[in-house]
Amino acid sequence: AAVEKGNYRHFMQKEIFEQPTVVAQTLGSYLRQADNSVALPQIDFDLSAINRITIVACGTSYYAGMVAKYWFEQFARVPVDIDVASEFRYREPVLEDGGLSLFISQSGETADTLAALRHCKEAGQTIGVVVNVPTSSMAREADLLLPTHAGPEIGVASTKAFTCQLAVLAALAAHMAVKKGRMSREEEQEVVRHLLEAPACLNSALDHDDDIASMAHLIAPARDVLYLGRGPDYPLALEGALKLKEISYIHAEGYASGEMKHGPIALIDEDVPVIVLAPSGPLFEKTVSNMQEVRARGGKVVLISDEEGLEEAGEDCIATIQMPKVHPLIAPLVYAVPVQLLAYHVACVKGTDVDQPRNLAKSVTVE
Ligand code: G6P
Repeated sequence: AAVEKGNYRHFMQKEIFEQPTVVAQTLGSYLRQADNSVALPQIDFDLSAINRITIVACGTSYYAGMVAKYWFEQFARVPVDIDVASEFRYREPVLEDGGLSLFISQSGETADTLAALRHCKEAGQTIGVVVNVPTSSMAREADLLLPTHAGPEIGVASTKAFTCQLAVLAALAAHMAVKKGRMSREEEQEVVRHLLEAPACLNSALDHDDDIASMAHLIAPARDVLYLGRGPDYPLALEGALKLKEISYIHAEGYASGEMKHGPIALIDEDVPVIVLAPSGPLFEKTVSNMQEVRARGGKVVLISDEEGLEEAGEDCIATIQMPKVHPLIAPLVYAVPVQLLAYHVACVKGTDVDQPRNLAKSVTVE
């Protein structure tokens, strides 16, 4: 049956709002609630013997991979390489025995990613695939198929597939950590408990839709927008900038907060809004000082943080968006919502074709 928009104006909007449901569905197939453990599909190779992970993907799926690198390294202590698929093969990557090559794709058909998969297969790597279309080419060629259960994604700009990819990757990282003896049973249970909190936290993030809609007019006139984040929220800054570019046609850049002083700070003036993604926690103070550098140059800051963070640093911002206080593990999932909604509402203010942005394709099947 054809997918319908229902009461939503756009597929993208519908897909953003589906996230609590589809992330719960996806988590449901990887986590066992009875004993708070991770349960992956049948694996016929030894996960504990994997000594290196190579992640390859494009676009939004690539940013999910960037987040996952933090998790694989932090939890399982496995070194991770990550590349965009169009660059991967041409740099003659070193693919040693015992490596897992992991391909992340909504469609499972992106030409560059598929070519990279075949390259790794030929080099003898174990092939893991995180895809949303279980009948896709990538799914068929995988040794380890890890489906996301996001349902059909129609909007060209990926949203719900991204958060579902993160859910699967977090489960995989925890599972690998357990297999490698890097994570105790208690730690695994704690990780699982935090992951299971994600759907409710996504819902509370969605509650701020109206606030975001009403601040979108502050961003819509901008020619350039800068997004800043640190740690696993840095890829979210990249994703926020990508979403805004894709559907509102505003030039946007994502930067690691601490790297701003090495370049983009030269662009800051009152016409360049700076969107700061900064959950409270150990990295918060440093990000706040980067924010002050922006403000000292007349820059306008939009701070996305939790109650604690906004209380401490929300003053003098042109707008703030309040997120629930979440465990750092699920922050990248939860903070995806405000950046998606912001891009969506700015595009609506500008009157662009949200679901079919110019020059872009849902699935890019040429290299
Ligand atoms: C296109 C889409 C993006 C998507 C990217 C990768 O550029 O417009 O939304 O992130 O392809 O697609 P994939 O299906 O491989 O995740």
